[in-house]
Amino acid sequence: MELFEVMTTSGAIREYLDVPVSDQTVYEILNAARFAPSGGNRQPWRVLVVKNRESRRRVRELYCDGWKEYMAHIKKGFVPFAPIDDGKWNGPAVDLDEAAAMTFNNEYANHLDEAPIFLVLLARLEDLACLDNGLDRQSIVGGGSIYPFGHNILLSARAYGLGGVMTTVICRREADMKALFDIPKEFAVAALVTLGTPKKFLTKLTRRPVEEFTFVDKFGGPTLGAPTR
Ligand SMILES: Cc1cc2nc3c(=O)[nH]c(=O)nc-3n(C[C@H](O)[C@H](O)[C@H](O)COP(=O)(O)O)c2cc1C
Repeated sequence: MELFEVMTTSGAIREYLDVPVSDQTVYEILNAARFAPSGGNRQPWRVLVVKNRESRRRVRELYCDGWKEYMAHIKKGFVPFAPIDDGKWNGPAVDLDEAAAMTFNNEYANHLDEAPIFLVLLARLEDLACLDNGLDRQSIVGGGSIYPFGHNILLSARAYGLGGVMTTVICRREADMKALFDIPKEFAVAALVTLGTPKKFLTKLTRRPVEEFTFVDKFGGPTLGAPTR
């Protein structure tokens, strides 16, 4: 596939056909994804390929816990877990017991453990040069050394006719994930990526146009107009 087509049509795929994907294919996907950039080229990623069925079910349960919290935030009108006006995360904005008691119906969460490929992305904290550490706001730079790798996995999967989604609500249950998979303390759980053969490709993506997020010379200044062809 042509590069721009892949970039502009790789939507989040959360429903998969019941078609197995070989280890060889997973290897090839990761073999391309590993060329992702990272701060200082430290490549902080490790990948758990989870095949054990019981572990996958447990991850699904943990994911559902996180999802309930996420939805509880939305129901109360918050951007889930977002830093607020002081630029910092100030703890859960909802009553977590109340959130845990919520019922919800989410197809992806309900069938998460059935995804043909199940990859837990880990980041070695000691390898993250967080250049915004110590600033009086939420740190974000560290994630830049792991999520390009995650997105590369999704793009690479397209070459094999596969699709997937990178998810992070599982990070709400990092302690349980560490216990489940014997993850050493110097690693963070960065994401869960599920992949498979899409029931259907979602290629019409809703994204803001360049004019809405670009300024010239000064924040709030003129936008960068589309080229005249
Ligand atoms: C950092 C990150 C975290 C995400 N976490 C989740 C998640 O926990 N659960 C989920 O279903 N999707 C998750 N997504 C997928 C987004 O919801 C998806 O990329 C976005 O809504 C665009 O969807 P579309 O490609 O279908 O337009 C995440 C995406 C990113 C980049």
